[in-house]
Amino acid sequence: MKSTFLATSNIALVKYWGKRDTRFNLPTNGSISATMDEQLKTVTTVEFSPKLKADEATLEGKPLQGRDLQRISDHLNIFRHAAASAQKAKIVSENSFPSSAGFASSASGYAALTLAAAKAIGLKTGMAELSTMARRGSGSACRSMFGGFVEWKKGTREEGLDSLALQLHPATHWKDFRNVIATVRKEPKKVSSRKGMMRTTQTSRLFQKRLEAMPYTLQEMREALKEKDLGRVLTIAMRESNQMHATMLDTFPPLAYLNDASLAVIHEVHAFNDAAGETLCGYTFDAGPNPHVLTNERNSRAVQAMLAQVEGVESVRVCRLGDGPKELKKHLF
Ligand code: PMV
Repeated sequence: MKSTFLATSNIALVKYWGKRDTRFNLPTNGSISATMDEQLKTVTTVEFSPKLKADEATLEGKPLQGRDLQRISDHLNIFRHAAASAQKAKIVSENSFPSSAGFASSASGYAALTLAAAKAIGLKTGMAELSTMARRGSGSACRSMFGGFVEWKKGTREEGLDSLALQLHPATHWKDFRNVIATVRKEPKKVSSRKGMMRTTQTSRLFQKRLEAMPYTLQEMREALKEKDLGRVLTIAMRESNQMHATMLDTFPPLAYLNDASLAVIHEVHAFNDAAGETLCGYTFDAGPNPHVLTNERNSRAVQAMLAQVEGVESVRVCRLGDGPKELKKHLF
């Protein structure tokens, strides 16, 4: 049976950086994110068949090979194991955004692949458990299994069954929440997040301090989101992003994912808020230079205009909260 799912990217407001187990992608801390709308989506069709001799995967019309294909096959093994099947699969996947643009394509990609593979092989697994399967493909993917605001619980169990995502609030909770995303000039990522995280956990002393404060940061963010307190959410998110990037710089040899345009945006956001006399927008950066500037609907145009004039910014888009993954009737093959 063929199955097709759409999933969208998410932006972390409290970041995941550090693994306590690399095999199962178990994190050193919990994280909280906002799932984005369908401007940042992946659509994936999966079909298992006894006729196939090997897994075949096509991304953006290009057949995957070598390590890229192996990563997909490894992920499919989770579903084959759960369904006691040895069948190989055909996978076709399309992104609405270039996967090299630095958006979290692995999050939407592994969320869509997980849902389509589970359905295609006939598993009747609940969403929380499916999120643990998505997590094994890419940590942040477990948060894209739900819409709105989502928390990934760190969990304590060795095999990670309690390291799962759950929805804090659906998208309808905060309809005028916006993420204004700027794409800055591209440079290839020097160190993957997988390798970068390892290096931070092994060498940064600041990282230990971050972990100690993390339960309080998570609780503050949960409260601020519940109350829809924009100024508080933005302040926590900016400080959180700055702290993660500080531990990256404290890593040895250091990791530097931000560039001149990112730093200029940080400066402009603070100038914008100073001029307004209140916190109306706030930045957050993943392991890359693209700024995500969070705000509300009323201020999104001014934020967009502010970002567009920063040197090095190539394009700006305004995203809303998304409703999460959905099944599509129309297959990609
Ligand atoms: O899921 P990964 O391995 O792509 O790691 C994502 C890490 C950050 O984007 C930097 C933070 C996060 O929580 O999404």
